[in-house]
Amino acid sequence: MPTTIAAPKTTTQKPKAAPAAEEDFLPLHGTDYVEFYVGNAKQAAHFYKTAFGFQSLAYSGPETGVKDRASYAIRQNKLTLLLTTPIRANNPIADHIYKHGDGVKALALKVEDAASAWQETTKRGGKSYMEPKTLSDKHGEVVMSGIHTYGDVVHLFIEREKYRGPFMPGFRKWESNYNPPETGLQYVDHCVGNVALGQMNPWVKFYEDVMGFRNILTFDDKDISTEYSALMSKVMSNGNGFVKFPINEPAEGKKKSQVDEYLEFYDGEGVQHVAMATNNIIETVTDLQKRGVEFLNIPSSYYDTLLDRVGHIDEELNALKGLGILVDRDDEGYLLQIFTKPVEDRPTLFFEIIQRKGAKSFGKGNFKALFEAIEREQEARGNL
Ligand code: FE2
Repeated sequence: MPTTIAAPKTTTQKPKAAPAAEEDFLPLHGTDYVEFYVGNAKQAAHFYKTAFGFQSLAYSGPETGVKDRASYAIRQNKLTLLLTTPIRANNPIADHIYKHGDGVKALALKVEDAASAWQETTKRGGKSYMEPKTLSDKHGEVVMSGIHTYGDVVHLFIEREKYRGPFMPGFRKWESNYNPPETGLQYVDHCVGNVALGQMNPWVKFYEDVMGFRNILTFDDKDISTEYSALMSKVMSNGNGFVKFPINEPAEGKKKSQVDEYLEFYDGEGVQHVAMATNNIIETVTDLQKRGVEFLNIPSSYYDTLLDRVGHIDEELNALKGLGILVDRDDEGYLLQIFTKPVEDRPTLFFEIIQRKGAKSFGKGNFKALFEAIEREQEARGNL
């Protein structure tokens, strides 16, 4: 905002009060990191480095004075993953893995004031997970706090203005001799939650009331249905649009929907997929496939009518077809996206790779092709 504005020479009437911009009580600067609880963090870190091109960043465990767990932080551009495993039985991390398998525990969000984030959200009904606490080491201090969301997932609020270390106090820099190159992944575009039947609207209300998010898009079972199954989804976004959380719930269908399959095998609600953005999806996906990342197969017939549906695109159709990349257009541009198969043996968490060329939507035009691809996988698992 300009600091000086020339005052009008005469003021004969009061200026009309502009509608006060609604104060954002929870200003968020994007995703700080995504924490996974996994059965073997050492091996998971190797997988995400080898397959997805993440770089070693920081480590904490018995050697750094942490007695019950080991955590590996890995990074690629603005994407940071934290992989945590219990090193003993009978603790909440071990219980989480016993119940859910590998999965997302925390969606950590960057804030300027973690104490205020906690106060503002808990006073609006958020259930506290962690009261504000200050962690410090020779690199400075991080303040963190947290609240519960759906399932066993939590949101952590991370304030790190005064921190200059590699990741967080308690971690040491992780220097590795094994450093596969990056694959062009840039930042978290969105994280999708699967919730139980009838729970989508209560969680939409949670994001509205407790976190000040808005519902920016809604898909009903007419938008997202195949011959067999359906789901409903509402996309929640914070004020500046840096943080987007679509929430899915299953809808009635002839057979078991993909959300039902997730809820059964995850044994509850949780994060279904994390979408990671790239600036060149063809290069990124070519590289990921070479490194062994498995993607859902899209029938070649999808490409027969693609250009009729989306109009001109910069990419070569054959390159997209060869890789199985999907395209959709909205009023503002288009987007390219592709979905991995689940990255663990339970049919639960997967990743999306997305490149946005103007479009701010989520690929509604691809839902049918995509869900039919998912159902072929479900059928192969005997879960359809
Ligand atoms: Fe997505």
